[in-house]
Amino acid sequence: MAADLAIGIHDLSFATTEFVLPHTTLAAHNGTDIGKYHVGIGLRSMSVPAADEDIVTMGAAAAAPIVARHGSDQIRTVVLATESSVDQSKSAGVYVHSLLGMPSSTRVVELKQACYGATAGLQFAAGLVHRDRTQRVLVIASDVSKYELDSPGEPTQGAAAAAMLVSADPALVRIEEPSGLFTADIMDFWRPNYLPTALVDGQDSIAAYLQALEGAWKDYTEQGGRALEEFRAFCYHQPFPKMATKAHRQLLRSSGHDSDDSRVLRDIGHTTDYNAAVGNSYTASMYLGLASLLESADDLTGQPIGLFSYGSGSVAEFFAGTVVPGYRAHLRAAAHQEAIARRRPVDYARYRELHGLSLPEDGGDHAVPPQTGGPYRLAALSGHKRIYQPR
Ligand code: COA
Repeated sequence: MAADLAIGIHDLSFATTEFVLPHTTLAAHNGTDIGKYHVGIGLRSMSVPAADEDIVTMGAAAAAPIVARHGSDQIRTVVLATESSVDQSKSAGVYVHSLLGMPSSTRVVELKQACYGATAGLQFAAGLVHRDRTQRVLVIASDVSKYELDSPGEPTQGAAAAAMLVSADPALVRIEEPSGLFTADIMDFWRPNYLPTALVDGQDSIAAYLQALEGAWKDYTEQGGRALEEFRAFCYHQPFPKMATKAHRQLLRSSGHDSDDSRVLRDIGHTTDYNAAVGNSYTASMYLGLASLLESADDLTGQPIGLFSYGSGSVAEFFAGTVVPGYRAHLRAAAHQEAIARRRPVDYARYRELHGLSLPEDGGDHAVPPQTGGPYRLAALSGHKRIYQPR
């Protein structure tokens, strides 16, 4: 891509929840060998939302530092991607826009396609910036991953929001134009409107992910994308971190490369730290992986990164980004480590109670108990309306 057309991620920030359940606690409750969680699926702990946290409070907490650093004057579009929507009609982004005091001259919309939605948001944002290089787009990915208690998916739950500012001449990562796309009408994971927890056939969804990767990579090469050996690192959607290992091993093998542990570790090793601590954050997951890579790997200046986004159902995209000189000065490593370290551990009984929480549906006036130490909270419900406040 010519330097004068550089468009991409100018800033990247994430937020997570008030509480955390270590996998050692879950394993002690259900008798699972901890090796299955720590090694088999690659998770250490999962973020658990407080009663007054949801995709809006996490989304606002992720985006607030971006608005504080860059202002909101040039942001004329806010895209919020989620599969844990709080309303069938109103975009959760409108609440975030209000909490952040953004100008009324903004378009705000919510996008959905399982865990893929934020990548659609990023690509749509790049298109808008291409049309008018003075504009910036705030893309927010915010999700709470919730499965039934005692189901195979339970240990892969989690919650987080990632926010990205997409602009011309980005400070972090330039997004390249070739994109490999793949869509297939399948039922590997879904959540009907009337269910609070997702339905999934775990092994089927792993196979579907790998098939989508093959299809998206094939299309990427046909669209004139880079050769595999040009990439310095690969960042995958991580429903659980071990999925990135499975995916990368398959990509290496199917394109005739060595797929031994050291090669896989070299290519994806820095992308899994945040996801291992947070659990599945659906739309935000790949962007937490990107933050982890940028913040923990040695200098990546000028290096191409392969990005694979997958959303069950299914839509997938393989694309590339190039790391911009000087990127390290714009990272938020300390804030991200603090967001993970400040979570308060819950015991199994408290986790179960939080898991079973549901908000009143009677349209009455209900205060929501103050629990979060984060900057925004769901304060009350009144007349079926959600009332959010800065804390
Ligand atoms: N020590 C080390 N590894 C162990 C272990 C132990 N004591 N016990 C099991 N394992 C390994 C298994 O060998 C397996 O590894 P492999 O996949 O490399 O073969 C891994 O841990 C998981 O074990 P498995 O028996 O497959 O677990 P499961 O039946 O409980 O299901 C998921 C795992 C991921 C399918 C399940 O958590 C799930 O349904 N998740 C939600 C859906 C999802 O995330 N889909 C991904 C695509 S979007």
